[in-house]
Amino acid sequence: MAHIVTEGCINCKYTCCVSVCPTDCFREGPNFLAIDQSECVDCSMCARECPAGAVHPESAAPIGSCHFARINMELAMLWPAVRARRDRLRCADRWRSVRRKLHLLRI
Ligand code: F3S
Repeated sequence: MAHIVTEGCINCKYTCCVSVCPTDCFREGPNFLAIDQSECVDCSMCARECPAGAVHPESAAPIGSCHFARINMELAMLWPAVRARRDRLRCADRWRSVRRKLHLLRI
């Protein structure tokens, strides 16, 4: 099992998760990060760092978030690796508490 990034990341992209990942398994899109599950070692350090509470073990994903396992897998194949922390997105603090924003995910 690996960890997955879920809806809370959309339009936030704090990238605190990236700075603690020991395997560089994060992939970066325009307004979301995905985890390459083949590289994740399930250490949970990213989950503890995310201010949006967006990262979870796949086996303990919040109710209604199971489809993010597939989303992570598909997007990780498309997007480049991100290895360093970046500035969060504009208005990240406002978007952090917004729910039901999957339709805003940009590829
Ligand atoms: Fe996203 Fe949280 Fe990382 S908002 S970029 S999963 S720190």
